[in-house]
Amino acid sequence: PIPVILDCDPGHDDAFNILLAAAHPAVQLLGITTVAGNQTVEKTTLNARRVCTVAGIEGVPIAAGLAGPLHGSGIVAPDIHGESGLDGPGFGEPTVPVDGRDAVTFLRDTLRAHPVPVTLVPTGPLSNIAALLLAHPELAARIERIVLMGGSTERGNRTPAAEFNILADPEAADIVFSNGLPVTMIGLNVSHRALATPDVVARIDALGTPLARLCTDLLTYFGTTYREVFGFPAPPLHDPLTVAHLIDPDLITLVHAPVAIELTGTHTRGATVVDLDGVTGARPNAYVGVDVDVPRFWDLVVDAVRALG
Ligand code: BDR
Ligand code: CA
Repeated sequence: PIPVILDCDPGHDDAFNILLAAAHPAVQLLGITTVAGNQTVEKTTLNARRVCTVAGIEGVPIAAGLAGPLHGSGIVAPDIHGESGLDGPGFGEPTVPVDGRDAVTFLRDTLRAHPVPVTLVPTGPLSNIAALLLAHPELAARIERIVLMGGSTERGNRTPAAEFNILADPEAADIVFSNGLPVTMIGLNVSHRALATPDVVARIDALGTPLARLCTDLLTYFGTTYREVFGFPAPPLHDPLTVAHLIDPDLITLVHAPVAIELTGTHTRGATVVDLDGVTGARPNAYVGVDVDVPRFWDLVVDAVRALG
């Protein structure tokens, strides 16, 4: 299996990525680090513990990370994910503990100790990953690759130009994309095709388990906010495309392209400027998702909820 650390801000779609990573035998889930994003880091950490508790995911360390971006002040997304960051279902008190180490220390320890390089899967703002690379540049050699959800080859969602995860910490994103590591970027241009339509929700509901019920409650809430805020017919499950790509490398079509992070634009800060046509002459620094086999993606998600029982 592929050794993986999820770095996330759950978040409805982050929650499904945790389920997918924990359920699939192709993934060895070494840990979960949390970051401020969809909500404060206190809330996203609590939510990671809640998801692991209800799904019976035990023995996977959860370490809390940065409370905001490297520079400036952060943004949160209560309009999309609610005040808790995971509104919709009811959760009991989580029994899964939080690791005593902060996220960067946990990442440092795990990368040093693991016998082979580890794949990092960030699905929130890139603050923790950038902080790790700044504090421990030598550990880049212990990272197999970075497969992240963020950005877009097209328009943004938080501003016309910028996607939420990149806008929330553009300097961190710039560090991650310019570090020389193999980066795979799965952005809105792909994730907006992965809509949890009523037939998908019905397939999960038909599993009939308490976890399936929780998942349909999450998707129902997410669907309501996506309809109200963006006018979408169904909610896009952005983040699980990352782990789905690891499980099934042919699921998402990638192109190798130069990606620059806009740091200074008056109206475009946080944009991912993807040179799909090679007009800049810049060296490609990322594998960028451009298409996805949507039915195969949903099969993986439904199978994960079923496997967790
Ligand atoms: C990204 O932003 C968050 O709201 C989601 O969890 C996803 O990671 C989509 O722009
Ligand atoms: Ca996320």
